[in-house]
Amino acid sequence: MLVIGSDHGGYELKKSILELLRKRGVNCADFGTDGSDSVDYPDYAAKVASAVSSGEAELGILICGTGIGMSISANKFPGVRAALVHDDFTAQMAREHNNANILVMGGRVLTPDQGKRLVEIWYDAKYEGGRHQKRLDKISVIEQRVINH
Ligand code: RB5
Repeated sequence: MLVIGSDHGGYELKKSILELLRKRGVNCADFGTDGSDSVDYPDYAAKVASAVSSGEAELGILICGTGIGMSISANKFPGVRAALVHDDFTAQMAREHNNANILVMGGRVLTPDQGKRLVEIWYDAKYEGGRHQKRLDKISVIEQRVINH
């Protein structure tokens, strides 16, 4: 299952992404926001990131104005690898090298077509494992060290 959330700055792009995901038959849940009224991005980052962190969802997508606040917030959650992407290359690498389980984008940075394209690239890409796994393991070690501090 894939969960998606945005603040007001990402609301319009979220609508386009949901349309794409539903067209592709992806099992997804929309965690809001549900309109263009101003809200606080950490609230929506927490909903999506805690679902991914707990294993309730396999993947997540977060969108705010720039994507910066969402990525900072989501990466506080254990096991979350949230990647802010801007172009085809970063979307592909986010999955192939970083095995990013949350894709983050800026609704005020990308056009709807660009955003949909980045979602398709990330969603369809495959994690390469191998040498990259050693690096993800090191991230987990850092995470455990911080949790136990
Ligand atoms: C909201 O105005 C804006 O700050 C937010 O969407 C995001 O860009 C924060 O990183």
